[in-house]
Amino acid sequence: MGKKLGILTGGGDCPGLNPVIRAVVRKGINEGYEIIGIKNGWKGLIECDTRKLDLTAISGILPKGGTILGTSRTNPYKKEQGVEKVKAAYKKLELDALIAVGGDDTLGVAAKLCKDGIPNIVGVPKTIDNDLSCTDYSFGFDTAINIATECIDRLHTTAESHHRIIVVEVMGRHAGWIATEAGIAGGADIILIPELAVDVEEVCHLLKKRHSRGKTFGIVVVSEGAQFKEGTMVLQEQKLDEFGHVRLGGIGEQLAAEIEKRTGYETRISVLGHLQRGGTPSAFDRVLGTRFGVKAVELVIKGNFAKMVALEGNKIVEVPLEKAIATLKTVDMDLYEVAKVFFG
Ligand code: F6P
Repeated sequence: MGKKLGILTGGGDCPGLNPVIRAVVRKGINEGYEIIGIKNGWKGLIECDTRKLDLTAISGILPKGGTILGTSRTNPYKKEQGVEKVKAAYKKLELDALIAVGGDDTLGVAAKLCKDGIPNIVGVPKTIDNDLSCTDYSFGFDTAINIATECIDRLHTTAESHHRIIVVEVMGRHAGWIATEAGIAGGADIILIPELAVDVEEVCHLLKKRHSRGKTFGIVVVSEGAQFKEGTMVLQEQKLDEFGHVRLGGIGEQLAAEIEKRTGYETRISVLGHLQRGGTPSAFDRVLGTRFGVKAVELVIKGNFAKMVALEGNKIVEVPLEKAIATLKTVDMDLYEVAKVFFG
């Protein structure tokens, strides 16, 4: 009987997931595996909802954004009988191994399942936030910063013409990688990230300083999860998802109103939101996703489980899943210092 390999994609989608799926299917079939696609992340395993992934199914998906398997933020540990259902489906499908592609939530579940009865799991890091530890980059990030940079460039020209401040809200829940890198690339005048709580007054001071040297416009890039020093700005309450994360969005609007009130400069807001996650992956993300997919199958063949594939320098390596999900990779402060040179 042939060997069976399952693959699922969980959490927020991002460009580069389809290149991983394609690579797993191509490499897996070459190595004699039948590949079972599990739909919609862990939800698909709870419900035993699958589709066969053969060469026809993956034909033409390399440049496509999103994931042909669908995704969800379902946490089996938060569902009634969720883990038992996952284990039953794994058995029913006669899987020999599972490749879980996701961020810290999806891979956190994978790490727990490795201990709770499904040991043969390999993780693949995905997130536009680039906040997974033990890997220099996760795919999706490069595409996201390129989109955000293009948007900042476009916003620059209209801000300049109208003599306005434009606040650009980008994704980044607990880590400000997108804000920092797209901000540097787009020439932002201020960048606000979750790692550093700021006083709104300092932001206004920098904008006034900029005006005093004759610049009548400005670009403020803010991560959706940016923090403000206590008492300097009250943020709205947010809803929680199944992994206990707040659903963010709206900080830019509040910040823009505060800037306009305190400086008197006309201030507008642009929320990039899911534009940063949609569309075709960059060449970098296609290559990284492809390398990760091939490496994940190699680990399955070797029986090297409870690992996550990772990029270290320019090498694809494997790291313990547990280690990868233990802490978040936050913005390197040396990089942020580079960004700060251009503030104000
Ligand atoms: O986890 C990636 C991410 O894009 C975060 O930057 C953002 O906070 C979140 O997903 C948004 O999630 P959703 O698409 O479920 O609203």
